[in-house]
Amino acid sequence: MNPEHRSYHITTFGCQMNKADSERMGGILEKMGFQWSDDPLTADLILYNTCTIRDLAEQKVYSYLGKQTRRKKDNPDLILIMAGCVAQQEGEALLRRIPELDLIMGPQHANRLEDLLQQVLTGSQVVATEPVHIIEDITKPRRDSSVTAWVNVIYGCNERCTYCVVPNVRGIEQSRTPEAIRSEIKELARQGYKEITLLGQNIDAYGRDLPGSTVEGRHLNTLTDLLYYIHDIEGIDRIRFATSHPRYFTERLIKACHELPKVCEHFHIPFQSGDNDILKAMSRGYTHEKYRRIVDTIRQYMPDASISADAIVGFPGETEEQFDKTLQLITDIGFDMVNTAAYSPRPNTPAAVWNNQLSEEVKIDRLQRINHLVSQTAIERSQRYLDRVELVLVEELNAKNPNQVLGRTGGNRLTFFDGDIEALRGKTVPVKIVAARAFSLTGEMIQDKGGLYQTMKETTAS
Ligand code: SAH
Ligand code: SF4
Ligand code: F3S
Repeated sequence: MNPEHRSYHITTFGCQMNKADSERMGGILEKMGFQWSDDPLTADLILYNTCTIRDLAEQKVYSYLGKQTRRKKDNPDLILIMAGCVAQQEGEALLRRIPELDLIMGPQHANRLEDLLQQVLTGSQVVATEPVHIIEDITKPRRDSSVTAWVNVIYGCNERCTYCVVPNVRGIEQSRTPEAIRSEIKELARQGYKEITLLGQNIDAYGRDLPGSTVEGRHLNTLTDLLYYIHDIEGIDRIRFATSHPRYFTERLIKACHELPKVCEHFHIPFQSGDNDILKAMSRGYTHEKYRRIVDTIRQYMPDASISADAIVGFPGETEEQFDKTLQLITDIGFDMVNTAAYSPRPNTPAAVWNNQLSEEVKIDRLQRINHLVSQTAIERSQRYLDRVELVLVEELNAKNPNQVLGRTGGNRLTFFDGDIEALRGKTVPVKIVAARAFSLTGEMIQDKGGLYQTMKETTAS
């Protein structure tokens, strides 16, 4: 089959890591001659980039695949690819379950899509799930946004949280070199991108596998070093990073975020539970006291910083009192956002086979209660924005109201206001906030006479 004039569609499940992988795989397909199609029911090549963090995420892809395998009966040339974390977890077993699949590829193989697809095009059914050293990405990704971009800095995870499949499916940590990261960001700046988000499962563990790494005599083997090293790239206005692990979060890193004006004052640091015994059973490697000290230190340097997190409820053996401690932590800290989840037993993880599992009823009840508290807390946190002028980097049109554009504050609050997207896309503008909801704001752009607010950007951040 000649890829020219053939169409492809990618559906992405899961985290930012998967989104970044999908953008790179899209870039590879376009380089091969495939063209993007919005319609998964007519495209000639379908790629599902899958997630297995919870059972629900995994089951979703099987229901999507059902439609495609039926379609393949009438259209044998249809190419079906399962990539990502379910592909890695299930491997060859998937071929027995879904023989219509042409290619099964784990996340470490994303950059090898062209090679793998060539094998498919010559008639093979291919499974690529063996651990490999991830090759430097040389393809231009097909990025979803023209303003903000993901930049992978560390792949994999060396932790062993007892509930989590990620180390099984993403492999061991592998940091990209500082030079490769800097040159990717410079290229992004050249193409007009304004904001980058450095990505890693545990981004603050960056560089542990690059011992003694130096560039021009400077030490460059921590996230802090990396931030200083990339900060001066002209054209990039904002730098974010995610996800941070409390175990590796240092005061040196906090100081760097405070000192470096482009680094946004937003920290995503999952705590998972507010109870020390549960944290221990999870093998998280910190206590809730240590977590609180991290947030205190952030707020000493940056009183207005946004703090978000992830939390799990209904972990095996969690008592009502232990759950209350998680609620208490949320109340005490006052998070801007918390992603919550009911514990889901995952294959080949220690906690899945413990005999103190909680019932679905208890888990769902706790999930509802925590979610209620999370939105209450977020509404309270949002109020601090009211009547304030915030600098908003404009990203897109508001799909629900074409007179409005949307962007984000430095603290990562989604903000809507009236404006012309063609004139504003990629610009950072002062917006007076007039309405504050739990997870978004509405404002009015103000004319920046004499560049008053543009100077605010430097002064508030330093
Ligand atoms: N590396 C990051 C998080 C990666 S996974 C960290 O350590 O913080 C993203 C989130 O999914 C986790 O923070 C956790 O809250 C949730 N999660 C992971 N495994 C889960 C499971 N088995 N059940 C429910 N939620 C889970
Ligand atoms: Fe999973 Fe823990 Fe690694 Fe995060 S640190 S990806 S929760 S094993
Ligand atoms: Fe899901 Fe894999 Fe990310 S399991 S959360 S897509 S690392």
